[in-house]
Formats: sequence, structure tokens, C-alpha cells
Amino acid sequence: MDQHSKTKSDSESLPAGLTLRALRPTDSEQYHALLQLPAVVHGNPHVPFETLAQTRESMAKIDPTAIAMVATVGDTLVGIAQLSPMKGRRSHVGSFSISVHDAWHGRGIGRRLMVELLDLADNWLGLRRLELNVFADNHAALAPYHKFGFEIEVRQRGAVLRRGVLIDSFMMARFHEPAPLMSGPLASPLNANGAPRNGTKP
Ligand SMILES: CC(C)(COP(=O)(O)OP(=O)(O)OC[C@H]1O[C@@H](n2cnc3c(N)ncnc32)[C@H](O)[C@@H]1OP(=O)(O)O)[C@@H](O)C(=O)NCCC(=O)NCCS
Repeated sequence: MDQHSKTKSDSESLPAGLTLRALRPTDSEQYHALLQLPAVVHGNPHVPFETLAQTRESMAKIDPTAIAMVATVGDTLVGIAQLSPMKGRRSHVGSFSISVHDAWHGRGIGRRLMVELLDLADNWLGLRRLELNVFADNHAALAPYHKFGFEIEVRQRGAVLRRGVLIDSFMMARFHEPAPLMSGPLASPLNANGAPRNGTKP
């Protein structure tokens, strides 16, 4: 996905030099550090104080069909996002997650990552349903999810333990129309009577 790397310039609030690109093995230390930040732990279900080795192991296990993306400003990793298509009879479904470095919240990075993931899901992978889980008190995430068309389908009561409280989690989903064909439907090689059209074989 490195060929899809791009620098954003269409919003004044975005940090100068913000770049989105594919996750690289050399990002592991910054990726790990971001996952340990207080607001990132607060908004996600992973266990705090995981080791760098555990993070590297999780990075290595990312399914090859998933798109793991990072946002950088210069050499600083400021956000991470992942879109994971499902398999088999759920191959029209994808799940995704986004986290922005605590020091970079409110600068449009989460929105930018979301726009990119939705474009990939809708216009490149042809996913029809996107789903995610979000804690019921995570207003910073709920606001943009609602704005991008996600609806709450299920409230999972007491789904995750956080600082001694069982936190409710919402499962949210968003549907997308199938992609249109570039051209109209093909003309049938048979006429209305079932006979071959002139010059064509059935
Ligand atoms: C949720 C998160 C990804 C948002 O990223 P961000 O870069 O701070 O968000 P942005 O600056 O792009 O803002 C996106 C939108 O959400 C709104 N928003 C941001 N913080 C908000 C808050 N606390 N309350 C309500 N709305 C908020 C913004 O106004 C913006 O709306 P707009 O697009 O209409 O202008 C970020 O807060 C985060 O990483 N939190 C910790 C990890 C986490 O909770 N991840 C999500 C797990 S489901």
C-alpha cells in the first residue's frame, strides 16, 4: 500500500506534513508506545503494559488481507488504523479500528484515517458492511462514527473491565451500496424468440 501514501492538504486543521502509509515492521516501537498511551488504553480493550515483544507478535499476526495503516508527521507516528475484511460468507464485511496519539487528538487525524479506510472499503475492496466496537462513553469516537453513517446495532452490557468498572460497548455498523458497472448490461446473444441474433452464436 505504500504506493497509496499521500500527503493531506485539504484541511487547515490537519498538521502540516501529515502522511498516511502502510504500517512497516520498523514502526513497531512507536506503534507499541502509542498503544500504551492513557487515552488509547482508555478507548480500547487491550491490556495495558503489554511488552514490545507482544506488540511485535501481534503485528506479525496481522492477516495479509488486512490493511494496516499509520499516520505520520515527519518521523513521528501519530495515528494507526486497521481495516480487516472477513472471509467466506462474511467476505462482504469488514471491521475497523482507529487510534490517534494522545498528543495529537482534535487535529483531524482520526477523521482523515476514517475517510481513507472508508474509501478503501467502499471503492477498492467492495465491502458492503463495515462494523466496529466502541465503548458507550467514548464520545470522541462516537461523534465521527455517527457522522460517517454508522448506526448502533447492539449494546453489550459490561463488555470490558476498565479501572474497576464494567463498561458497556456498542456494536456499530454501516452499509454501502454495491459498486455500479462501468457499462450497461450486456445485450443477450439471443433475440426475444430464443433464436441467435444476426451473426452471433448462442
Ligand atoms: C477517537 C479518536 C480516534 C478521534 O481522533 P481525533 O484525531 O482526535 O479526531 P478528529 O480531530 O479527527 O475529529 C473527528 C470528529 O470528531 C469530533 N470530535 C473529536 N473529539 C470529540 C469529542 N471529545 N467529543 C465529541 N466530538 C469529538 C470532531 O469535532 C470531529 O468532527 P468533524 O469531523 O465534524 O470536525 C481519538 O480520540 C482516539 O484515538 N482516542 C483514543 C483511542 C480510541 O478511543 N479509539 C477508538 C476506539 S473505538
